[in-house]
Amino acid sequence: MFARHLLAFVALLQAGTTLAHLAAWHDGMYCRNGTSGADEANEYTTVKPLYQLPKKDWWLHGLDGCTRFPPAPGKFLELPAGKEFTVEIASNRGKTSLSFNGRFASNWPDGNNYPEDYNVPSCITSPNLHAQNYSQAAGTAFAISYQSDIERVTPENLVVFSVKYHTPWKRITTYSVPAALPACPEGGCHCAWAWIPNGCGQPNMYQQAFRCRVTGATSTAPVAPGKPPVWCEDNPSACTKGAKQMMYWNQQEGNNIWVQGLDKSGSPKSPAYNSKCGFSEGAQNDIFATGSGKERRCAAKTKRGSAGRRT
Ligand SMILES: *[C@@H]1O[C@H](CO)[C@@H](O)[C@H](O)[C@H]1NC(C)=O
Ligand SMILES: *[C@@H]1O[C@H](CO)[C@@H](O)[C@H](O)[C@H]1NC(C)=O
Repeated sequence: MFARHLLAFVALLQAGTTLAHLAAWHDGMYCRNGTSGADEANEYTTVKPLYQLPKKDWWLHGLDGCTRFPPAPGKFLELPAGKEFTVEIASNRGKTSLSFNGRFASNWPDGNNYPEDYNVPSCITSPNLHAQNYSQAAGTAFAISYQSDIERVTPENLVVFSVKYHTPWKRITTYSVPAALPACPEGGCHCAWAWIPNGCGQPNMYQQAFRCRVTGATSTAPVAPGKPPVWCEDNPSACTKGAKQMMYWNQQEGNNIWVQGLDKSGSPKSPAYNSKCGFSEGAQNDIFATGSGKERRCAAKTKRGSAGRRT
């Protein structure tokens, strides 16, 4: 029995070397246990990259039915306002602390060890970081939607609130939360993690869903609807300002960013969660609706009041 399990594990490790893409792991994620109904310790459904798919398949990793496998009741990715939260970026749940008590986890996303200045001019493929070295790692992001029902999450209400430049890189990855992020509704919010690698393979994207909630919130101004980011490496004044959507690229439908030609370094342009598309590093503090809902309601009332006086 033990030997059979070990063989299955070794087979998965081998499969892992060819399929070793990356996802962010946390008990608040969708598809944590896979889609078989059993708890799959070596689960890796969510690491699958998304490329040239219809929207129902790429949106929140719908292709494997992940949106129908929410986290266990009470499990949320907790976002402490003004502080940081941590996820594990890995190629397989087996390489994280979520499986085997973390026995197969290392500092890196694939459970192995590498030099601190890991650099492969022809692209690092183990782990599949889609980069030559740390400085080339494209950046990843978390977005939040104030909808408790995943069916009501849309590209417009799913707004990027945190960006980490030079990721994915190591397994343990922390993201900063805007201090002004308001509390979620009773049933919680939904969050998503995303990555668009910069070259080193198929020009695809990654997106996956979490249940999340904000802790220690003190502000009530809502997050504004997100606008699509644009490529603005050569002209920072052209960047989309304020609340931004996640980037949807190279799909059959639903794309919200298009690029052509070469970037400043001479490589084909690849949208990324970094300054090239107008994302600052860390907490995105400019995503809130200016003028709270309350102020807007007061303004509307005043207007009606004065109109009333005129008649
Ligand atoms: C995943 O498996 C674990 C361990 O068996 C269980 O506690 C948890 O409830 C499962 N999660 C879901 C979403 O089914
Ligand atoms: C990282 O990779 C890029 C692209 O190959 C290269 O130009 C750069 O010199 C490398 N940086 C380091 C620190 O090795």
